[in-house]
Amino acid sequence: MKVTIVGAGNVGSTCADAIAFKRIASEVVLLDIKEKFAEGKALDMTQTSSLLGFNTKIVGSTNDYAKTAGSDVVVITSGIPRKPGMTREELIGVNAGIVKTVTSNILEHSPDSIIVIVSNPMDTMTYLTLKETGLPKNRIIGMGGALDSARFRTYLSLALNKPSNDIHAMVIGGHGDTTMIPLTRLASYNGLKISDLLQESELSKVAADTMVGGKTLTGMLGTSAWYAPGAAVSSLVQSIACNHMKIFPCSALLN
Ligand code: LAC
Repeated sequence: MKVTIVGAGNVGSTCADAIAFKRIASEVVLLDIKEKFAEGKALDMTQTSSLLGFNTKIVGSTNDYAKTAGSDVVVITSGIPRKPGMTREELIGVNAGIVKTVTSNILEHSPDSIIVIVSNPMDTMTYLTLKETGLPKNRIIGMGGALDSARFRTYLSLALNKPSNDIHAMVIGGHGDTTMIPLTRLASYNGLKISDLLQESELSKVAADTMVGGKTLTGMLGTSAWYAPGAAVSSLVQSIACNHMKIFPCSALLN
């Protein structure tokens, strides 16, 4: 299994790190336009292999798409992240051009790859990629729901004081501050309905915190978050790579 990650910024490199650490792929290629940056990240990560116990080959590339050839899964994180006060939608002008160029370079070298879109505004970029490439809808996946659901489970876990791994919950809808739909009625803790365990006001607060989960972090960090976004993408890649048949809410074309 070969995975390429385009964009070696915070999200892309965290994702590469998680994929290597979880031993999902035999090779990870990290590509960036910034001279030697992806190579540096790849070398640094490679130096953790004996410490963390993985054998994944991690390759860095400065915009050389030949190195990405034959990838099974390609993750696109390229573009600019949002700053405090910005909506994800405000990034569309710059990021649309970047994502178009990247996708066409990728398909030249990995025509059969499954593409996971991370760049914001994620839903729009997923649709744009679908339209531009004409690929079948099951090969273009937008990752937002996996991240939003992880945030939802975190806030539920904090409100319940129970581990997030014992909580099942999903966010559907768009990956936007006002378009997310946390499915509070269906959230469960070890088979128990969470709506029976939390007050309605507590559940509403969890849903509201989830919806602005990214915005809250952007305000705290001064830029977009990366640990949970990177880990969310690695979970999607893992499920694809290992054919786990898991269910993730994600951005995809529905007819
Ligand atoms: C976030 C960005 C990745 O929600 O959209 O953190």
